[in-house]
Order: sequence, then structure tokens, then C-alpha cells
Amino acid sequence: MTYIGKDIETAAALLENDQVIAIPTETVYGLAGNALNPSVINKIYEIKNRPLTNPLIIHLSDIKQLNKYVKNIPAIAEKLAEHFWPGALTLLLPKKDIIPDSVTSGLPNVAVRIPSHPTAIQLLRQLSFPLAAPSANPFGYISPTSAEDVKRILFGKIDYILDGGLCAKGIESTIVGFDGDTTIIYRVGAISPEAIKKVAKKIEINKKQIQHPLSPGMLPSHYAPHTPLYLANNIEDLLKTVSHSGTGIIAYKNPCPFIPEKNQEILSSSGNLDEAAHNLYRALHRLDSLKLERIIAERVPDVGIGIAINDRLERAANKNYKND
Ligand code: TXA
Ligand code: MG
Repeated sequence: MTYIGKDIETAAALLENDQVIAIPTETVYGLAGNALNPSVINKIYEIKNRPLTNPLIIHLSDIKQLNKYVKNIPAIAEKLAEHFWPGALTLLLPKKDIIPDSVTSGLPNVAVRIPSHPTAIQLLRQLSFPLAAPSANPFGYISPTSAEDVKRILFGKIDYILDGGLCAKGIESTIVGFDGDTTIIYRVGAISPEAIKKVAKKIEINKKQIQHPLSPGMLPSHYAPHTPLYLANNIEDLLKTVSHSGTGIIAYKNPCPFIPEKNQEILSSSGNLDEAAHNLYRALHRLDSLKLERIIAERVPDVGIGIAINDRLERAANKNYKND
């Protein structure tokens, strides 16, 4: 059975007992376990059905712990950490031996962040180890931003979901690495490139990302059904080409007059991109559960967190892409 609860003591006891549970963060829910224990790390990969070549992020509660797990920290990384932590920025830094190789899929760098969700911080403070936590979705599916969505997609696979309400940001952390004095954004996320540039000065966005692309043939066939998603600059133009019944809409600000209300999600009627990010994954989860023929999603303005929203929509629209 999979229980949803708010008890941090229960969560800590399960984690100390080498269990894997779901925890809230301000970005998305994480599938968490002891980052220092290789057999727990294996369990995370197994529950998520994730290829072992796709490494995990570790979560700490205090910047003072950083030196215990990573070395040769560039000055710019320290500056970014001081500025954005606790928060939705993940740094790629050279790992120390205490971090098992399976956490990083054998890579020399480990991804690390301090989440800002109060429940996550309180939990991490009680533990004597960092938590490895990928997003709490089966590999190939949409990340969850509520305890209920975690329960639906991981039912029976974990015993406990620590409920921290809806994730405030609603989109994953921004991942950066370092090359000399350049900060490279490997995954756009909840912290915008503009905000990072203000602190890091010299930035580059790595368009190719860091995923190890798998050919679809290698993927197990039991993924949750995924309604085909189309991305539109103008929903009404695209609607001219398809039947309206069986079509779901994810609109930025305005509802679409031709589509039943129950098949529509408005991300932010006031046109607030933070609110749109907060609502995005829940909207995708709800529409996908309706088993429609197609979902048409509208691009949002490509600024601030809108860059990450469009990135996730583009990925959702790409048949060959599997969310990790
Ligand atoms: O907001 C977030 O980052 C959430 C919450 C739970 O913290 N976590 C998350 O984890 O999104 P995950 O595993 O779903 O995505 C992490 C991404 C993956 O694309 C992985 O390939 C990349 O980070 N990554 C992790 N460790 C890495 C490493 N050592 N080197 C390069 N890429 C890494
Ligand atoms: Mg993920």
C-alpha cells in the first residue's frame, strides 16, 4: 500500500531504514533515499524504471555540508550557491569518494542542491545522510507536483509519500556546470537564465542537454499512456485541422470557445508565468488522465521561467523524448 502522510518522523524513520519514499520539494516531488547507500540507490533506479546511465541529484540541508561531498568548488559555484540556496538551482561539482559511483552513473561530477521547501529541509536536518532524489515519476512520464499525483503514478511501488502540499515552483531545478569562468546551463528550470547571468556574468545554454538519449526500441513498453501533445503558437489555428471532440487544451491565459470546459486547463488567466509554471504539470496530469485523443498546448512568452515552461512543453510534444 502507498500512504500519504504529513509525519516527518515517519519519513525519517523509513529513510533511516533504507526505504525509498516520496518527498516534497519546492520544484517537484522527489523519489528519495539515502544517497550514501548503493543498495538504496539501486532501489531508486528500479522503482523509477530509470536507465542506470541517468544520474541522480543529491539534496542537502546546509551549505556547510557541501565540502563533505564535493571538492574543487569553483569560486563562481560558491557565489551561485550563496545567492540561490536554498532554492531551485542544482550545481554539477566534482564528487568525493563518499558519493557512490551509481549516484553519478560513473561520472566525475555529482549534481547537488539545497531545496527550499520547509518540509524537505526539516526532514534533511534530521538525517545523517544526504538524499538522492530524482523527480518522483516513472521514467518517461510527467513529473508530479502534488502528493495525489505521486500516489496515482507510483501506487504500490513506495510505502510513503510525505505530503508537503502543492510544489510552489512546479517545474524542476535549473542545472548548471562550470567550464573555467563560464557557467553552463544544462537544463533550463525554475531559475531563469537571466537571474543566473546576473550572478555568474558569463553563461552559456547547452541546447543538447545532458540526457543520454535512448532509442525508443530500448524502452520498456509499459509506460503510462501518454496522450499525444501538440505545441501551438496559436491554438485556434491548430484547431482548424483537427476534430474538437477528443481534444484537450492547455492554454496560457484564455479559454478556447470551441472546446468543453472540462477538457481545458488555463495556466494563468492573469498571464503570470510563475503561476503558469506552478500549474503546468498538474494540468498535464489531469488532461492525460482523461485519455483524450490529443492535447494541444499553447506556447508561453519565452522569458524568465517561461523558457523552462516552453522547454518542457516541447519535450512533451516530442514522441522520441522520455521525461526523466
Ligand atoms: O527540481 C529538481 O531538480 C528535482 C527535485 C526532486 O530536486 N529533481 C529532478 O531530478 O528533476 P531528475 O533526476 O528527474 O533530473 C535530474 C537531471 C537528469 O536529467 C540527470 O541526467 C541530470 O539531472 N544529472 C544528474 N546528475 C548529473 C551528473 N552528475 N552529471 C550530469 N547530469 C546529471
Ligand atoms: Mg525528472
